[in-house]
Amino acid sequence: MDVIALEDPTDAQIREWHSVLAAVHAAEPAGDPAPDPERTARLLLGAEAGSRQRLWAAAGGPGAGGALVAVAALRLPGEPGADRPGEIDIQVRPEHRRRGLGGRLLAAAAAGLRADGRSSVIAQVLAGTPAVPFLESHGFECVLTLRGMLLRLDEVPAERVARLLAEAPAGYRLVRWKGAVPDEHADALARAKHAMADFAEYEGSPWDAHRVREMAEIVAKRGDDLYTVAALSGGVIAGFTEVVVPAGCAGRAAQYDTAVLPEHRGRRLGIWVKAAMLRWLGEECPGVREIETDNSGDNAHMLAVNEELGFRLERESLEYQAAVSALPATGS
Ligand SMILES: CC(C)(COP(=O)(O)OP(=O)(O)OC[C@H]1O[C@@H](n2cnc3c(N)ncnc32)[C@H](O)[C@@H]1OP(=O)(O)O)[C@@H](O)C(=O)NCCC(=O)NCCS
Repeated sequence: MDVIALEDPTDAQIREWHSVLAAVHAAEPAGDPAPDPERTARLLLGAEAGSRQRLWAAAGGPGAGGALVAVAALRLPGEPGADRPGEIDIQVRPEHRRRGLGGRLLAAAAAGLRADGRSSVIAQVLAGTPAVPFLESHGFECVLTLRGMLLRLDEVPAERVARLLAEAPAGYRLVRWKGAVPDEHADALARAKHAMADFAEYEGSPWDAHRVREMAEIVAKRGDDLYTVAALSGGVIAGFTEVVVPAGCAGRAAQYDTAVLPEHRGRRLGIWVKAAMLRWLGEECPGVREIETDNSGDNAHMLAVNEELGFRLERESLEYQAAVSALPATGS
């Protein structure tokens, strides 16, 4: 069974790729919604702004009708040789596992990482799944535990949101915007993003106004909407929270960054901006039923804020990292 690089996937290959994702999801749903074919197509046809991607796949033998049975996507953020890890995602149909396909796709991705001048790679996987022994047998180590939490919006009493909003910390006012940050707040938002540095081990390039706009473009290019609520003290963004709402304003939204500048912590700004976000989404996007979030297992403050809002633990994910030099070479 050969591993092929997909430079420019055809419609048929996109459909087969999606069917691999759907089969893997059906075997290990972990509370996630089933993958959406249009989203798969968008992801395969265009890398996100500010990054490139490489794709590989393995086709099954005659028994599988020659269709793709295993796929690998490697995301390469920044320029070639950038001091940022690549991000690998390998998926093998359950009935084709333990035959070396995952390992061969990893070897192909390792060659891609070397060709791009990368020294490390990360992968995010579900705790307790075969991905854990797979990665550990290939030189990866666990560097981060992420707690996937879910808030069902119809279970959040409106009074809770109203009470949290009424408990406004003195000296701050709320602002909000949809999409790219307005020019007047761009530098302040970039500074506030630095406040997250303690929790974002892998952020390679510094946050500036250009990078915050680039992130909003990435979301828009996928067809999704980025909502931001910030607490201002003078012209400074003391804290903010971001949620990405899927195209069509329906289903499950994703919590992106939330941060409070160190000198403004301890005043319940984090829960205040999040409560304002809940009210805004309730007014503008009633089709959004739930919000998911991943928190670092050692980020006790954010976990406490999310629990108070009503988020419940849904799954545990692990972030694994390997030095590219430790990865298998193609053909081994
Ligand atoms: C993780 C995954 C990609 C592995 O694919 P695979 O084709 O089964 O992997 P391989 O056959 O190359 O396995 C190589 C080695 O990994 C280890 N391994 C893989 N699956 C394992 C399992 N279920 N239990 C124990 N060890 C396992 C073994 O050491 C195996 O060698 P062996 O079969 O000779 O013992 C596959 O299980 C999968 O698609 N999981 C769901 C998606 C996912 O979580 N992807 C990981 C993101 S990178």
